[in-house]
Amino acid sequence: MAMKMKHLLHKLPAERDLRAVPRPYINHSVELKKSFTPEERAGMLEAVGLNVFFFPSEMITGCDLLSDSGVTTMTGEQWAALHMGDEAYGSNRGYFMLKDQVRETFGSAFFNEPGVGEPNAFLFHQGRASEDALFSQLGKTGTDLIIPSNGHFDTTGANIEANTMHALNLFSDELAAPLSNAAFKGNMNVPALEALLEASHDRVPLVYLTITNNTAGGQPVSMANIREVRRITDEYSIPLFFDGCRFAENAWFIKQFEPGYADKQIKDIVREMFSHADGFTISFKKDGLVNMGGGLFIRNGGLFTKKYPHLPGMILDYQILTEGHPTYGGLCGRDIMALVSGLRIVTGCEYLTHRIEQVRRFGAEMSGRGIPVLNPVGGHAVYVDINRFFEGTAMKPDDFGGISLCAVLLAAYGHRACELGYFTFGRYDRDKEREIHPQLNFVRFAVPRLRYERQDLDSVVASMEALYENRDGIPGVRVMYGRELPLRHFKARFEFNK
Ligand code: F0G
Repeated sequence: MAMKMKHLLHKLPAERDLRAVPRPYINHSVELKKSFTPEERAGMLEAVGLNVFFFPSEMITGCDLLSDSGVTTMTGEQWAALHMGDEAYGSNRGYFMLKDQVRETFGSAFFNEPGVGEPNAFLFHQGRASEDALFSQLGKTGTDLIIPSNGHFDTTGANIEANTMHALNLFSDELAAPLSNAAFKGNMNVPALEALLEASHDRVPLVYLTITNNTAGGQPVSMANIREVRRITDEYSIPLFFDGCRFAENAWFIKQFEPGYADKQIKDIVREMFSHADGFTISFKKDGLVNMGGGLFIRNGGLFTKKYPHLPGMILDYQILTEGHPTYGGLCGRDIMALVSGLRIVTGCEYLTHRIEQVRRFGAEMSGRGIPVLNPVGGHAVYVDINRFFEGTAMKPDDFGGISLCAVLLAAYGHRACELGYFTFGRYDRDKEREIHPQLNFVRFAVPRLRYERQDLDSVVASMEALYENRDGIPGVRVMYGRELPLRHFKARFEFNK
């Protein structure tokens, strides 16, 4: 390089110092939005009983932050990969590429050679189908079983309970401390796990770690916690499974905040994380960077296959009955091609840094305006603490402030978030005629991958600031339908209190 240029580059402030780091991608194609007035949105919301899941996405003029699942903007390379999809009924081209990619990303023990080794890699159309396959078969191995986790996702918990097992959440103590800035609030509560296993290890067929911990505010899990949980499960010879939906984002936090990992590559951290697992379920709709896909992977020669030698065969039969041949398992050949490409992209440090910093900045902006968010902000979403949001107002727990906040935000400003709190995770006790409230009460603002820009999220922040200033005027809701149903948040209807 010419000396003059070298000198100049040295003298000029770096992009980072200018706070002008460009996005590590450009728009590949865009979709133009239609416009709707707040009155039109409010009318539609009333028509769907204030349930944001039923609100037509075409009418969302702001950001759709209902979920980060299946809403990734795919890269040009992924769209091109779709065209290379091989729709053969058995052993399509993408399947072999996926085998190599899964081995590369998570470890070679998670995908045996097709037709040679025992079946241990099962593709499904999404995460919950893989949970159903695992728990419907595992549930047959005993009665009165408990599956503890650092935090089961709602469908995971529901699949466990549907198979007559008990889903138990052992959240970390730091999670409940609003002022704690602990970096890994998603951790398993190790003393609680030890106590459970000491008392009832014969009732625990499997221990689960959700990585990152969506139900617990999207918080990451440290490598030290993974190691510790492994040590305890080993003591009792209990298999350890991951719910690995956001594995790459979790690895980024380990690199950033856990001593000893700063110089390691994300890829290597992911491999180390999964070296402790006997298997995992995964929804590829998150860190697979695709719109559809899931899987169940079991470690060849691991504790799970030793303890339950018949289960992989039973899972295979179940998969063929419900989804299809294991070489496509509920997915089109083209979906598999896009997934292979997504898994290659997601462990890239530039992508991940941009992704997580976008979410964390979004949270910091909300915090800066006094809105009570769970800190530190996790990798995929900002969680607003509803109890603190409505503190000092007339909002009561049974008014479901989170549900009404989402409805008002959508009507007034066209942004969609979702309640993950007293309504979603609570339940109505019919005998006692009262609501049982869970520990946590959040509204979640999930950020889809590669979809929105800073300006979009700034508009959500400004909208939330206006609602926070006017929180006294936000009415609660009453449940008109669905209070007693399982997974009630997907189905219920509400009305604003008069
Ligand atoms: N596990 C976790 C931790 C999840 O976050 C999800 C889905 C699943 C399992 C189920 O996967 O949707 O492919 O069947 N989470 C989405 C969300 C729906 O909005 O958080 P799926």
